[in-house]
Amino acid sequence: AQDFLIAPSILSANFARLGEEVDNVLAAGADVVHFDVMDNHYVPNLTIGPMVCKALRDHGVTAPIDVHLMVKPVDRMISDFIDAGASYITFHPEASEHIDRSLQLIRDGGCKAGLVFNPATPLSYLDYVMDKVDMVLLMSVNPGFGGQSFIPGTLDKLREARARIDASGLPIRLEIDGGVKVDNIADIAAAGADTFVAGSAIFNAHQANDPHGYDSVIQRM
Ligand code: DX5
Ligand code: ZN
Repeated sequence: AQDFLIAPSILSANFARLGEEVDNVLAAGADVVHFDVMDNHYVPNLTIGPMVCKALRDHGVTAPIDVHLMVKPVDRMISDFIDAGASYITFHPEASEHIDRSLQLIRDGGCKAGLVFNPATPLSYLDYVMDKVDMVLLMSVNPGFGGQSFIPGTLDKLREARARIDASGLPIRLEIDGGVKVDNIADIAAAGADTFVAGSAIFNAHQANDPHGYDSVIQRM
């Protein structure tokens, strides 16, 4: 049986009414809340941190929160997001001085750990830590902004990541992030992804004044 998860990226939500936006996408059938953390240092943009994650938990969000750290250094933010109620915590290996230690920090905190691969980052970062990751996240855009176009070469990289995961025999999720739309998600799934981040595709549909924007996009994914 296919075990696909849809993870709306709240980067494209209306931050002035974030709790309601998250409630809406979950009610529409989304499985996971994708939470993009940017620090204006590792990536050229600035977003939200652990206080906002905690606020969503206090608001009553019980769905998994998938924290995508685009920050450098990473370890301090790992601890803060564990305390803030994160479910998954993923980080970019180039941003950590000690990748193995950062992965262990996440699992020791009771969260699921993942590595994120930029378009030009090799999957060989997995070689010695495969047993310490619960998620492999492939970026299909360069990180920092929503609304960019899917980089087609990511499909081959997805197939390579899928082969590595299957060969390991470990229950590792394969997530894709960037430019995922209704019209390319089938090809992305065929290449091996099982967890799909979509920001602008989901939230812009709603903001375009279609009252069923979330439902129709999420249901068609
Ligand atoms: C980009 C973020 C993504 C972004 C995706 O750095 O990691 O999660 O929100 O947005 P879309 O789906 O619009 O490409
Ligand atoms: Zn992301």
